[in-house]
Amino acid sequence: MGLHESLNCFVLVLALSCFFLSVSLAHEKAFFSGKLNDSETIVSSFRTFRFGFFSPINSKSRYAGIWYNSISVETVIWVANKDKPINDSSGIISVSEDGNVVVTDGQRRVLWSTNVSTRIRANSTVAELLDSGNLVLKEVYTDAYLWESFKYPTDSWLPNMLVGINERAGGGNAMITSWKNPSDPSPGNYTAALVLAAYPELSIFNNNNNNTTVWRSGSWNGQMFNGIPDVYPGVFLYRFIVNDDTNGSVTMSYANDSTLRHFYMDYRGFVIRRDWSEARRNWTVGSQVPANECDIYSRCGQFATCNHRKSPLCSCIRGFKPKNLREWNNGNWTGGCIRKVILQCERQNNNGSADWFLTLQRMKLPDFASRSEVSEPECLKTCLQTCSCIAFAHGLGYGCMIWNGSLVDSQELDARGMDLSIRLAHSEFKTQDRRPILIGTSLAGGITVLAVCVLLARSIVMKKRVKKKGTDAEKMFKRVEALAGGNKEKLKELPLFEFQVLAAATDNFSLKNKLGQGGFGPVFKGKLQEGQEIAVKRLSQASGQGLEELVTEVVVISKLQHRNLVKLLGCCIAGEERMLVYEFMPKKSLDFYIFDPMQAKLLDWKTRFKIINGICRGLLYLHRDSRLIIIHRDLKASNILLDENLIPKISDFGLAKIFLGNEDEANTQRVVGTYGYMAPEYAMGGLFSEKSDVFGLGVILLEIVSGRRNSHSTLLAYVWSIWNKGEINGLVDPEIFDQLFEKEIRKCIHIGLLCVQDAANDRPSVSTVCSILNSEVADIPEPKQPAYMPRNGILEAESSESSDLKASTNNVTITDVSGR
Ligand SMILES: *[C@@H]1O[C@H](CO)[C@@H](O)[C@H](O)[C@H]1NC(C)=O
Ligand SMILES: *[C@@H]1O[C@H](CO)[C@@H](O)[C@H](O)[C@H]1NC(C)=O
Ligand SMILES: *[C@@H]1O[C@H](CO)[C@@H](O)[C@H](O)[C@H]1NC(C)=O
Ligand SMILES: *[C@@H]1O[C@H](CO)[C@@H](O)[C@H](O)[C@H]1NC(C)=O
Ligand SMILES: *[C@@H]1O[C@H](CO)[C@@H](O)[C@H](O)[C@H]1NC(C)=O
Ligand SMILES: *[C@@H]1O[C@H](CO)[C@@H](O)[C@H](O)[C@H]1NC(C)=O
Ligand SMILES: *[C@@H]1O[C@H](CO)[C@@H](O)[C@H](O)[C@H]1NC(C)=O
Ligand SMILES: *[C@@H]1O[C@H](CO)[C@@H](O)[C@H](O)[C@H]1NC(C)=O
Ligand SMILES: *[C@@H]1O[C@H](CO)[C@@H](O)[C@H](O)[C@H]1NC(C)=O
Ligand SMILES: *[C@@H]1O[C@H](CO)[C@@H](O)[C@H](O)[C@H]1NC(C)=O
Ligand SMILES: *[C@@H]1O[C@H](CO)[C@@H](O)[C@H](O)[C@H]1NC(C)=O
Ligand SMILES: *[C@@H]1O[C@H](CO)[C@@H](O)[C@H](O)[C@H]1NC(C)=O
Repeated sequence: MGLHESLNCFVLVLALSCFFLSVSLAHEKAFFSGKLNDSETIVSSFRTFRFGFFSPINSKSRYAGIWYNSISVETVIWVANKDKPINDSSGIISVSEDGNVVVTDGQRRVLWSTNVSTRIRANSTVAELLDSGNLVLKEVYTDAYLWESFKYPTDSWLPNMLVGINERAGGGNAMITSWKNPSDPSPGNYTAALVLAAYPELSIFNNNNNNTTVWRSGSWNGQMFNGIPDVYPGVFLYRFIVNDDTNGSVTMSYANDSTLRHFYMDYRGFVIRRDWSEARRNWTVGSQVPANECDIYSRCGQFATCNHRKSPLCSCIRGFKPKNLREWNNGNWTGGCIRKVILQCERQNNNGSADWFLTLQRMKLPDFASRSEVSEPECLKTCLQTCSCIAFAHGLGYGCMIWNGSLVDSQELDARGMDLSIRLAHSEFKTQDRRPILIGTSLAGGITVLAVCVLLARSIVMKKRVKKKGTDAEKMFKRVEALAGGNKEKLKELPLFEFQVLAAATDNFSLKNKLGQGGFGPVFKGKLQEGQEIAVKRLSQASGQGLEELVTEVVVISKLQHRNLVKLLGCCIAGEERMLVYEFMPKKSLDFYIFDPMQAKLLDWKTRFKIINGICRGLLYLHRDSRLIIIHRDLKASNILLDENLIPKISDFGLAKIFLGNEDEANTQRVVGTYGYMAPEYAMGGLFSEKSDVFGLGVILLEIVSGRRNSHSTLLAYVWSIWNKGEINGLVDPEIFDQLFEKEIRKCIHIGLLCVQDAANDRPSVSTVCSILNSEVADIPEPKQPAYMPRNGILEAESSESSDLKASTNNVTITDVSGR
């Protein structure tokens, strides 16, 4: 501590007085109403913080400030006279005649004052150091706080401090400013503050350079900042709460443990979170921003994205090119990028094909968004109809974000970013490359093209449906082509297998290779000549029914690639034969394990939790990660296949519905799906939406935890009754119960119940489910009573696939579209 360091010949005397202080702990005060001289201090009630004079490292100057009392490393969190040091030990901190706390030097000059209203009555105030590190000036009669150091931080944000604009509290913006250097607390070059625009953001400014922004956190959605993926509810130890009724302040709170921690603004311009490690007897850095070069504000200029894992860091967004190619290629990216092709809406003669959107995934969204609270389809429409709108994004807690003008400071994040849809001229989509669609920008582009096609194809399908239903095979194949974009090129990307090849691979579809029987036909295991194992779904020749499902499945699945979706390798169309070829899943499906007491042992809780997470991610991909919304409509344990590493893959997209998003829910006359997994609004009214998949997900979750089937919805009723008794242990499959994970298991039941709530609106979105699963959100809402589906006639009468075709235990049930 500087206190000690600045001593010279008085070392012994002072050391003795320190000793005195420490042996007379009980007499150390947390408050004062008189004077403190240079060697006197006060200490907070639980001895966490101390207030008095100190000297910074390598300095002899004296400052009044607050530091951690209980640790060995000098850590000052607040300074009073930061730019007016005292050069000797003549300084005095006192509660002055007018009731303010003042710091004066030997000549009684006021160097610093709390400077609150002069109408405070004399001798009526007391200063107290709270255990949070807050120094408060109190009115003795009322205990009201007249002033708090928490409202005037220097370089540190402490837990439970209001950070940011807090007008009502009269504190102005509780910004933090760096010290000049570690020996000089006077204001340095950098300031961090909460900025309230359409979306609150934390920003770092360079005071010395016209207050330019150095870094921004990205938009706040009520739970996290878009650009700081690790500041995530629960995962991060602090929670920031932007609170509207205190006029946009951010509160930091933190996990209830005794670890000391805070954020501070380092003199070099980093905001660093430090946690005290008792083991190392030192601070450890928890996080730091800017974290990498891409975090530097507008590193790549406009219309470019930055990715710190790539070299070069910067690339123009597709459809844009460097403004100054030479500078760009020399690594001077400040000029950014410009549009290659003028937008259709900007043309004089606006009669060509409309502009469309390219979707970039996992983005830190650009600066300067404006906000409205409309639905995603509405958001897209608004943007499309307004020529000045160059991009939009939509997300939980963000609503509809719209950009006009230019896009700056966007970044490709590793995870948890947002989708950003950027307006491009229609012609930009034609030049799409032929490579299989992969994750990232190219995927998004591909999907967008597909979206347009599907929109088109949907109307064709609709028309045809009206005319005649049981269409013949050729028409169906044409439909595949239509769905695939009107041109056969798309379809050609999907490998076509010769009938002979598949016949040979499956030993002429021999019964011993039969894996299972689905609603649309049997599934066979096969082995290609190269040795690759495959699963072949042979659609029943007779039924016109099923062909539509084939079409859907081909289109949906061939365009989507995700670790948690089963991969379609190709199809075969020969004469009347229609077959789909998938990767082979050696570990069968989830129902094979969880409902079988013998097999249940093979999936311990950790594995099951991973499986739950995987299903969630796969579903999230279907619902959120593409511009298309894909509703699976038949989520159930038997449609979750497991690969050799027990990674779950959602399969069977035969019933999936794709929509572009101009409808949030749709209605169908034909209710298909599986009894027990169907949401009530779908089963009864044929109404389906993302929330009907969430229902299925909830049922699977509860089945995984309990090891019981939701036959006739009895599981839901059972879980609900147990949940209300608060005694969940009896519910959990004894094979997996592990005290260690009780909290996690409980959370899964909780989420499961939220997903099966009766009202679709009450159910969380898949993205919410995923984020709750992976974090320690404290305030998950209480579930309402789940939907117990009455076992009435509607279902069975309308459900065309309700025949009980449950596969035996040695079957992989790839197409098990069966009722229970
Ligand atoms: C501060 O006050 C204490 C007791 O009031 C006294 O013992 C000490 O010498 C004083 N120190 C200075 C530097 O004036
Ligand atoms: C301390 O600062 C005062 C002015 O604040 C100055 O008059 C005095 O000479 C300085 N003393 C030393 C020892 O530097
Ligand atoms: C106190 O505040 C007034 C204005 O409110 C300002 O003029 C004055 O300089 C301040 N005094 C100190 C010591 O900060
Ligand atoms: C405040 O207290 C001091 C000493 O305790 C006393 O000298 C002074 O007169 C008091 N002032 C008022 C206005 O009561
Ligand atoms: C919020 O700030 C505005 C002015 O910026 C003020 O008019 C309003 O009263 C404040 N609201 C609260 C709750 O402090
Ligand atoms: C500082 O910023 C202002 C407004 O943003 C601008 O007008 C001015 O030219 C800038 N000055 C410098 C030196 O960059
Ligand atoms: C920079 O911001 C600080 C704090 O908001 C302000 O005091 C200062 O005047 C600003 N400087 C410029 C040049 O805008
Ligand atoms: C923190 O936990 C302790 C004991 O577990 C409890 O007494 C205390 O009230 C908690 N504090 C807060 C702020 O939740
Ligand atoms: C602060 O800015 C000044 C002027 O630009 C510069 O000389 C100094 O090195 C900067 N300090 C730090 C710590 O960056
Ligand atoms: C404490 O950690 C810092 C880095 O965070 C390091 O520079 C310093 O040497 C460490 N101090 C001790 C005493 O280990
Ligand atoms: C970077 O390029 C811009 C033009 O794009 C130019 O104005 C600027 O001077 C260049 N900076 C450097 C350091 O070359
Ligand atoms: C657009 O209109 C102009 C004149 O009206 C015509 O020459 C041109 O061919 C049209 N372009 C398209 C794509 O229809």
